[in-house]
Amino acid sequence: MAHPAGKPTLVMGARGSVGRHVLDELIARGVAVRASARRPEPGQFPEGVDVYAADLTDPASLAPAFDGVEQVFLYANHQGVQDVVKAAQSAGVRRIVLMSSGSVIHPTSQGNPITEEHRLVEQAFAAASGLTVVPLRPLVLATNTLGWAYPIKANGTVPLYQPDAITAPIHERDVAAVAVAALTGDDATTGLLTGPARMSQRDQVATIGAAIGKNVTVTALNRDDARTRFSRFMPAEQAGAVLSFLDDAAAGNSPMTGTVEQILGRPALSFDIWAIDHAAHFVGSD
Ligand SMILES: NC(=O)c1ccc[n+]([C@@H]2O[C@H](COP(=O)([O-])OP(=O)(O)OC[C@H]3O[C@@H](n4cnc5c(N)ncnc54)[C@H](OP(=O)(O)O)[C@@H]3O)[C@@H](O)[C@H]2O)c1
Repeated sequence: MAHPAGKPTLVMGARGSVGRHVLDELIARGVAVRASARRPEPGQFPEGVDVYAADLTDPASLAPAFDGVEQVFLYANHQGVQDVVKAAQSAGVRRIVLMSSGSVIHPTSQGNPITEEHRLVEQAFAAASGLTVVPLRPLVLATNTLGWAYPIKANGTVPLYQPDAITAPIHERDVAAVAVAALTGDDATTGLLTGPARMSQRDQVATIGAAIGKNVTVTALNRDDARTRFSRFMPAEQAGAVLSFLDDAAAGNSPMTGTVEQILGRPALSFDIWAIDHAAHFVGSD
């Protein structure tokens, strides 16, 4: 691939669900890019892209990746964020498009540890002179439901806390498209990002079932059992935050917004499309 002219945009976390789409869309638009991952391996990135090993918690790894770059897409990581700010300032980075969280501006999510860690990162960049930060604030990523792949494949039933909790999950491709808008000059991308429709978790399970041609059922979990399950994958306080988020969604407080359509000029992608795009994750055996 010939390198497009101009200073490259760095996509950190370019193997991530959102990051990979950001990288691909920038390349498709002819934007000069560079990609990073903590431990990149050959064959993981499009041919011809300059790849760096960079870890947000390892300041020494940032200087080479940031060198000569004015714009960076990166994931919010509160550990060592002040060192990331300093490294970006020293390298002359001017714009950070930050994968943050809608919980920062969602009224009923205030105070929980997930929200406050994202807020801390937003604030650290916002306070840095010479840097403009554009936070991306999705509320519920559709990719959360990839956690249902194992039980769907194993026995066709998904254990769920608050199966009737209603959310508006967003396709990672839409978050990435908003990121690209932000990287190409749109500053009005900081509103709450959601999918185009509110659906119960139960209906999301059924939508995945329809995409793979399988009758998938739901088993309701009580709060204690759900806490035990979530705590296997995340610290206890984060598990508590997820349970509270689901309680809130069950009470009808997880909204749908038109922000994606306003920014992109086309409707946000539906969960039906997401399920079809990811059907392969939900079939076969592990
Ligand atoms: N789940 C939700 O509903 C929700 C809602 C709102 C916001 N969010 C935010 O969205 C994020 C998930 O986005 P996603 O699905 O695209 O994530 P993902 O597929 O899990 O990818 C995460 C990326 O972060 C990178 N990363 C992690 N730690 C890093 C570090 N120390 N230094 C550099 N890069 C690092 C990883 O890079 P490597 O390749 O090096 O591993 C990876 O590419 C969450 O972490 C949260 O902040 C999530």
